[in-house]
Amino acid sequence: MDVLLLGASGRIGRRVATELLSRGHSVTGVSRSGTVDGIDDGGFVAVAGDATDPDQVARLAAGHDAVASALGPGEDDDPAVLTEMIEATIEGLRRAGVDRLVWTGGAGGLSVGPDTRLVETEEFPDKWEPVARAAIDAYGILEAADDLRWTYLAPAALIEPGERTGEYRTAEGELVADEDGDSYISMEDFVVALVDELESGDGIGSYLATGY
Ligand SMILES: NC(=O)c1ccc[n+]([C@@H]2O[C@H](COP(=O)([O-])OP(=O)(O)OC[C@H]3O[C@@H](n4cnc5c(N)ncnc54)[C@H](OP(=O)(O)O)[C@@H]3O)[C@@H](O)[C@H]2O)c1
Repeated sequence: MDVLLLGASGRIGRRVATELLSRGHSVTGVSRSGTVDGIDDGGFVAVAGDATDPDQVARLAAGHDAVASALGPGEDDDPAVLTEMIEATIEGLRRAGVDRLVWTGGAGGLSVGPDTRLVETEEFPDKWEPVARAAIDAYGILEAADDLRWTYLAPAALIEPGERTGEYRTAEGELVADEDGDSYISMEDFVVALVDELESGDGIGSYLATGY
């Protein structure tokens, strides 16, 4: 596949690029700077682009088989920029005639019990609430894009750099936690799940949670 990867310079994005390349896919990696450190592969091209601009997304997406996003708000950005990014991405894909999108979302909107989402629990850290709320709003926008084959793929409650085991579980709309109630996934295994989803399309049209 020829994949346009938005947010390729980020912590998750760089790992998505590495996983795609290791499976023989070609990757055009977008960030505002146009620079992605640490990837030296003939199948990879780094380009500059602004994911809040539908015209730029359309121009960049043209000719690709699919778009993957690991976009996140920068440290100085208002988290609400996530909704601008998803709107511009959806519009850009439409203009480019590309209909497949796998979006790295948030775990905050996942269900943890009857009528309770993770973001509503007492344990949810206050400092992550604005970005979690913005990610939930982004999901609402994506959910309405029924002309696209989209998947909103959420990490576990905790995601960190770690080991690539190739093992993970998924659940639709529900937080994935282990028998001790811990919800965790390494970034390396999250990107395995993301590339598996791009290749299989098993989770099209769903808010898919990942974890062990
Ligand atoms: N448990 C959870 O739910 C959980 C945990 C961690 C992360 N996440 C989500 O996963 C996503 C990725 O996280 P991360 O930690 O990998 O983020 P990150 O390291 O901050 O990377 C964000 C990426 O987005 C790019 N970017 C930002 N604004 C852009 C714009 N306007 N146009 C083009 N590119 C832009 C950045 O590059 P430039 O700055 O160079 O443009 C960078 O490549 C985020 O949405 C985050 O909320 C969820």
